[in-house]
Amino acid sequence: MDNTQNIQWFPGHMAKTKRQIEGTVKIIDAVVEIVDARIPISSRNPDLMGIIGNKPHIILLNKADMADQSVTNAWIKHFNSIGISAIPVDCKTGKGINLFKDTVKTALADKLASYRQKGMAGKPLRVMAVGIPNVGKSSFINKIVGNNRAKVENRPGVTRSNQWFTVDRELELLDTPGVLWPKFDDNTVGEHLAFTGAVTDRILDTELLAMRLLELLIKFYPQMLMERFKLTEFYDEPYDNLCLLAKKRGMMMRGAEPDTERAAAKLLEEFRNCKLGRITLEVPDA
Ligand code: G4P
Repeated sequence: MDNTQNIQWFPGHMAKTKRQIEGTVKIIDAVVEIVDARIPISSRNPDLMGIIGNKPHIILLNKADMADQSVTNAWIKHFNSIGISAIPVDCKTGKGINLFKDTVKTALADKLASYRQKGMAGKPLRVMAVGIPNVGKSSFINKIVGNNRAKVENRPGVTRSNQWFTVDRELELLDTPGVLWPKFDDNTVGEHLAFTGAVTDRILDTELLAMRLLELLIKFYPQMLMERFKLTEFYDEPYDNLCLLAKKRGMMMRGAEPDTERAAAKLLEEFRNCKLGRITLEVPDA
């Protein structure tokens, strides 16, 4: 379990982070937002669009290796249609990262042209990376920066909380100052983040969570579920389906009662480890 699962958001922290990002936006050329491709709605910060205004914006659909490729393509189309560049990436292996620099240059074509006009060709583009915890922001920075050390120069935008990295001569990357929060007052968002393991499920009832996940899987990916658990049918009641999983896995308690608690934990674990297959739980509006 990583530390991000223990993060608490407080109004004071959130206001400070918001102020820091608002201040930083002024000195950068574009924002790269990392989201989880399996839940591209729930893994976004609800206030980001308002904070960054009309800065060029690139979305990395990260963990694309675990997401349903056709739905990821639909998300790319959706984001493009609202003026946001989007690319699928796997920051664990680095797959797709090679598209990042060209995507930034395309998004900032006007800026680059004006640099050339003003005789400032070669001035590095400055991009800020943002993302709620656990989307893979650190993995992205590690992959894109490689062995380049963090900058420590004394200039505007370089403070203790602002970490600049050199990607290459043409591109500099800034890690977000502060920690961004999800839309945690929305139950569905909370559930989806818990399914992926982005927030702790210790405060949520494992069986309830698994039953909610089962409902979604039965709706969108019934075949995968059937294959993984060797099922031939589903029941109408979510609890009956959980009992079915327990029976199929031989998870029984004394008195031949299905151990639904264990089955629930197993389902969540297998979903998080991508054992059921590549699954996306949120689709763009038609
Ligand atoms: P953060 O900075 O946004 O909080 O996220 P971080 O990079 O720490 O990544 C969170 C978890 O997601 C890590 O797993 C990381 O390996 C995994 N991850 C990041 N990007 C990808 C991706 O594109 N594909 C897949 N499959 N996983 C990704 P962990 O279990 O916390 O650590 P570990 O397994 O790396 O030890």
